[in-house]
Amino acid sequence: MSTPAVQGTESRGFDVAWVRQQFPSLKLQVNGRVAAFLDGPAGTQVPRQVLEAVESYFVSANANTCGAFETSRRNDAMIAATRRAMADLFNCDASEVVFGQNMTTITFALARAIGRELGAGDEIVVTKLDHDANVAPWRALEEKGIVIRQVDIREEDCTLDLEDLKRKITPKTKVVAVGYASNMVGTINPIAEITKLAHVAGALMFVDAVHFAPHGLIDVKTLDCDFLACSPYKFFGPHMGTLYGKKEHLQRFKPYKVRPATDAIPDCWETGTQVQELIAGIGAAVDYLAGVGKHGDASVKTRREALAAAYRATVSYERNLLRRLLDGLQAIRAVKVYGITDPKRFSERCSTISLRMGEHHPTEIAKFLGDRGIFTWDGNFYAMNLSERLGVESKGGVLRIGLVHYNTPDEVDCFLGGLREYAARF
Ligand SMILES: Cc1ncc(COP(=O)(O)O)c(C=O)c1O
Repeated sequence: MSTPAVQGTESRGFDVAWVRQQFPSLKLQVNGRVAAFLDGPAGTQVPRQVLEAVESYFVSANANTCGAFETSRRNDAMIAATRRAMADLFNCDASEVVFGQNMTTITFALARAIGRELGAGDEIVVTKLDHDANVAPWRALEEKGIVIRQVDIREEDCTLDLEDLKRKITPKTKVVAVGYASNMVGTINPIAEITKLAHVAGALMFVDAVHFAPHGLIDVKTLDCDFLACSPYKFFGPHMGTLYGKKEHLQRFKPYKVRPATDAIPDCWETGTQVQELIAGIGAAVDYLAGVGKHGDASVKTRREALAAAYRATVSYERNLLRRLLDGLQAIRAVKVYGITDPKRFSERCSTISLRMGEHHPTEIAKFLGDRGIFTWDGNFYAMNLSERLGVESKGGVLRIGLVHYNTPDEVDCFLGGLREYAARF
């Protein structure tokens, strides 16, 4: 592949050529070939407006918060504006948006704060589908005698076993912690339904939306979850984490903090000085997504409407890419795809797939592809429960192909060609 791959992408309402122009890094070449970034689940590329926002922060607003001078005031205004942007993404109030280093750090801090109010014998439900960042922070509370219950999966399609989940939620359950979408097999969980089950039992619902955020519109009001975390670097922004918390909970639970720091929400949850230049980048990432929506539908009025329009277009585009990928994989000998493969069930999954090819080590395949400018990930991606449950942990895990809306049918074909070439050597 030697030219940017946009051919055959004239999907109705979605202009991938325009999208790709926004991302300077997509022009990168490896060994004379334009790179195919199929590594999005570990972090997406960023559009130019994110780079510009970070630079602009350093040029005109580089100061700490709450000072009595211009650059500090600009910084305060920028943080407030980014909170409003994230509030539009989550569909919540700006006072319910917390920034942090990354989802993992935020979740450890939140679990510790919630854990202050729990005692021996209280229960927390986690799942075998989840990234360890939504398991380990809760398991850390085992030290206090809190009991962790792990919900199993249905191995045949890598979905959550909802019957097991119902059994695991008891009157002693205090928190149910579930991922919105699996970062290994792409399964999307029925969060609104699970939230109802949690609430009936009197438990809090915590959602890890890190993997879902680049693939679908989040609506915390409809989900009715109590907390939801995601990481802007997975949705075209910089390396940080963000948390939505219902106002009543952010007020009620007490974060660990230094004495001079404010008690007011949401700031009291933001320990120490934030990476402010990257907060500027988060606002720009949300605006980029809204721009995708506006580019496809000029009639949208609010940023939330523009975000909804963007996801409508990208979800449908990503499903076409996914179908092409799965169709192509079917024809390659010894490939086993984990999770849902039936196009009729695509609403239950996003465009991230994991596979194994016989006993070939995923690292070897990823390296072979990487040398040809095709970037995929191998391993367990910290979804360790799942890697163990699927019996692949001791064998190098899986090869993961992550498709986001800047990817193209040509890139999918290029990946399939690379995999066929790898397979043909044996
Ligand atoms: C589903 C999921 N949850 C949590 C995390 C951890 O996020 P962070 O790197 O922001 O701590 C990741 C990162 O890959 C992830 O994919």
